[in-house]
Amino acid sequence: MQKIGRLRYLDVPARGQGRGAGTLILVHGFPLTPAMWEPQLALADRGWRIVVPELRGFGDGRSDPPTTSIDDYAGDTIDLLDKLDIKKDAVVCGLSMGGYTAFAMYKHAASYFRGMVLADTRSEGDSPEAVTNRRNMQQLVREKGQGAVADALLPKLLCEATLKGKPDVVDSMRRQITGNSVESIVGALTALMTRPDSTPMLPTIRIPVQIIVGAEDAITPPPLSEQMHKDIPGSELVVIPGAGHMSNMEQPAAFNDALGRFLDKRV
Ligand code: MLT
Repeated sequence: MQKIGRLRYLDVPARGQGRGAGTLILVHGFPLTPAMWEPQLALADRGWRIVVPELRGFGDGRSDPPTTSIDDYAGDTIDLLDKLDIKKDAVVCGLSMGGYTAFAMYKHAASYFRGMVLADTRSEGDSPEAVTNRRNMQQLVREKGQGAVADALLPKLLCEATLKGKPDVVDSMRRQITGNSVESIVGALTALMTRPDSTPMLPTIRIPVQIIVGAEDAITPPPLSEQMHKDIPGSELVVIPGAGHMSNMEQPAAFNDALGRFLDKRV
């Protein structure tokens, strides 16, 4: 993990013949860390530099003061792009909360984007029922700790086949969740429940967009991605069989194949 001021990130140089193709920014979900993108670092072989920001308060930054706003995650990531002098050729790929962050980044700094990948995410804000669930989870993590959050979330984040057949993915997810501080999880839950509805922005997006979703995603099910695909002009939709909400970790080969094709051909 590298650090500029308080901004932490992974920076993987481009490799191979197509070196210099552009920069891929991978934004992690909740309550995870940059480690969730480990299978995608291989995309550097296709000539893409890969930058993975660690959102404020997560992972190695667990003792930093957390935030309660998606706009702060977005603002930090834009600051990082400024510091790294990546001002035009970023393809921003966010999964779930990473997607909410990508929407907030696009709202404030569209000119930095060359393309966008929305993985297992949604444009709408939280429903009243979802807000209640977030509050219950804040109480759970305060009273019972991060392990209880992992127990509650893993069966929703991963599909049945992953839970039964891919212990390495389950272990990695549990390690990421339990490695985060209680405060960062509580803060992020407030950020999630107060995020704005990005749906009105969808028809205004004028860059190449790829939407990826696991066929068995229980948190942001495929019909939400189908609707975003209809609302974003010229977007492409990829449904990944045998994956739940963590499509990039559950089916890394299919995810990388789809994302790699988008990077090679569409942006
Ligand atoms: C995520 O994976 O980032 C979360 O599932 C987002 C959410 O709960 O809305």
